[in-house]
Amino acid sequence: MRQRIGVLSGGGDCPGINAVIHAVVKRAILKYDYEVIGILDGFEGLVEGRFRELRYNDVSGILPLGGTILGTSNRANPFRYPVRQKDEVTFEDRSRDVLRHFTELGLSALITIGGDGTFHIAAELSRLGIPVVGVPKTIDNDLNATDITFGFDSAVHVVTEAIDRLHTTAQSHHRVMVIEVMGRYAGWIALHGGIAGGGDVILIPEIPFDIEGVCEFILERRKRGKRFSIVVVAEGARPRGGDLVVQRIVRESHDQIRLGGVSHIVGRAIEEKTGLETRVVILGHLQRGGSPTAFDRVLATRLGAWAVDLVAQGQFGYFPAVRGQDIVPARIEEAIACLKTVPLDSPLLDIARSMGTYLGA
Ligand code: F6P
Repeated sequence: MRQRIGVLSGGGDCPGINAVIHAVVKRAILKYDYEVIGILDGFEGLVEGRFRELRYNDVSGILPLGGTILGTSNRANPFRYPVRQKDEVTFEDRSRDVLRHFTELGLSALITIGGDGTFHIAAELSRLGIPVVGVPKTIDNDLNATDITFGFDSAVHVVTEAIDRLHTTAQSHHRVMVIEVMGRYAGWIALHGGIAGGGDVILIPEIPFDIEGVCEFILERRKRGKRFSIVVVAEGARPRGGDLVVQRIVRESHDQIRLGGVSHIVGRAIEEKTGLETRVVILGHLQRGGSPTAFDRVLATRLGAWAVDLVAQGQFGYFPAVRGQDIVPARIEEAIACLKTVPLDSPLLDIARSMGTYLGA
């Protein structure tokens, strides 16, 4: 009988998930003659028993598509499964249903495409005896033990294009434009997008910012004849001694807080303290949508193919991690041990500073 493997995507969507699914299905069928079962809507499909077979022709044309053809969920943790009764949400352990469906489907392995939340669940399922292999995904690029995750390059591309577009209005109107980008605890998107787009101020979660310093810097630029400024701020940036700007709480989610709005605080303060006309743009989910860049398509394809190889080699509890130009197997536990934030001694911070960029402190 042909060996059967399952694949699911969990957590927030991001460009490149379909490229991973495409690679998993093709590698599994062509190289190993496996059958592939797609689990629908992340772990929700494993709990509720929703899936479909993915044949070779089913993945035709999905390589460049954004989102995920399987659907996803960032609420369906089988160990803390949300049950809604009227306005009340309670939680129950549905991991037994996962084990039951895994066995009923005749799966020999499960490939989980996801970030921190998905990897936490994968690690717990692994402890229950389910043979799991991960594929690292997140636009935030904050997953530990891998240099990069797919989706990040695509998000940075969107941010760069947005900054380019804001530059023209900033220059024409002699304004300050504040652009808020994603990145809850890690400033990778703001830093890379800010450098690529030539941001004048870049505020990241790792460096609590001094708003007086930001205003002085902008006024100083003006004195030097630069009548506009672009301020790139990560959603997780916070003023020195201040708090994160929380927009809402999603109780069912792995990380319950949803951020957003710090740019309005920054923009208002700049306008009040400098007297310069200021506008604010929040990019939000635009950064997670659309077609993956060529870089992400290649990376997603490599990771998807590698994940199937790890299954074939019986390396469960592992995921393909990027180290320099190479891909190596790394433990899922290592990925969730901590978040990969921007180190304060990162050469990239030094390079940004030497371009004349102010980093908030
Ligand atoms: O972790 C990825 C991410 O895109 C964060 O950057 C962002 O804060 C969050 O997900 C948004 O989540 P949701 O799609 O639930 O609003």
